[in-house]
Amino acid sequence: MSQERWNAVDDFVTALVVDEDDALRAAVADSAQAGLPQIAVSPPQGKMLQLLARVHGARTILELGTLAAYSTIWLARALPPDGHLVTLELQPHFAQVARANIERAGLSALVEQRVGPASESLDALREEGAGPFDMVFIDADKARTPEYFTQALELTRPGALFVVDNVVRDGELANQRTDDPGVRGMRRLHKQLAGDERFSATTIQTVGVKGYDGFTLILRN
Ligand code: SAH
Ligand code: DHB
Ligand code: MG
Repeated sequence: MSQERWNAVDDFVTALVVDEDDALRAAVADSAQAGLPQIAVSPPQGKMLQLLARVHGARTILELGTLAAYSTIWLARALPPDGHLVTLELQPHFAQVARANIERAGLSALVEQRVGPASESLDALREEGAGPFDMVFIDADKARTPEYFTQALELTRPGALFVVDNVVRDGELANQRTDDPGVRGMRRLHKQLAGDERFSATTIQTVGVKGYDGFTLILRN
């Protein structure tokens, strides 16, 4: 199976059922224009995040890793009018591009951006008594994912849904000798979840325009 084939299927699905609109397409175009890395979730994955948020009835969402706000826009559109999404980004320039994209999508009233290291933003949210968040999307620096999960947990209640992106990485997740810090982070996340009855989790492998990767779903029991 080839990348070409995976792309063709993502394109077919995107054209027919994903409903990517002008604001989302413009967000991608402007982020490319501004020189940001093109590593946002794919259109079908963005739609999946939105569907998960809707099925879950999420009213509050926490996102780690804004980039240009492509996933942010998908998620925020799942919220009711009085909903709230907080998104964390390290890079001020990325956050600036994201701000314009969120504004163009008409979502500024629902979305709160915080700029800085996610660990610090999570501490600040805790101190402010923010949350509880119904859903958390973890998509920042992969090596720190287990720590982000632990920190974000403090901002949730039982019933919260966590989605973690980029978990499988060409199958490297199963390589116990890997020296990739990101993959090691995702292996640690799984060890953290193993046998912990507070959580119910699974990891799904995916192919598509982003290659062979996958995501982890975690329900806080
Ligand atoms: N969720 C986005 C993609 C995020 S890419 C989408 O799908 O549209 C990962 C992002 O995490 C990048 O923008 C990167 O700058 C950010 N990031 C990396 N390290 C971080 C940190 N320590 N704190 C917060 N964000 C970080
Ligand atoms: C990278 C980050 C992502 O969030 C992603 O979906 C793909 C790649 C990266 O840092 O390379
Ligand atoms: Mg990602």
